[in-house]
Amino acid sequence: GLTGLLRIPPSVLKMHNKPDDAWSAFQGKVYNITPYLDFHPGGRRELLRVAGRDGTNLFAKTHAWVNVDFMLDECLVGFLVSEPSS
Ligand code: HEM
Repeated sequence: GLTGLLRIPPSVLKMHNKPDDAWSAFQGKVYNITPYLDFHPGGRRELLRVAGRDGTNLFAKTHAWVNVDFMLDECLVGFLVSEPSS
């Protein structure tokens, strides 16, 4: 269910940009990609390019046919939202 999922603005996403703490957004959903790094067929290095960022465009360019939703279901952290204005 949606319980426990977070609303994550870009500034928070950006904090998770290290290999041992890497989050990335794909089509509005934020995933913890750290556990998947060693399993990515395209390699860690490629996947780390989107750590702390919205990876939607790079993902679409490389393999739009891959289903992230399905593959990383258990790594879902929450949803990308716009930066709160202050
Ligand atoms: C290959 C998954 C993100 C670059 C693949 C393949 C899968 C996969 C399943 C094999 C596809 C096939 O052979 O048809 C994922 C998942 C991602 C992700 C679940 C998100 C968490 C990315 C990103 C990039 C990237 C952001 C680029 C910055 C590549 C490349 C290959 C590849 C270059 C081709 C490797 C090769 O055939 O030698 N990825 N990927 N991937 N991925 Fe990703």
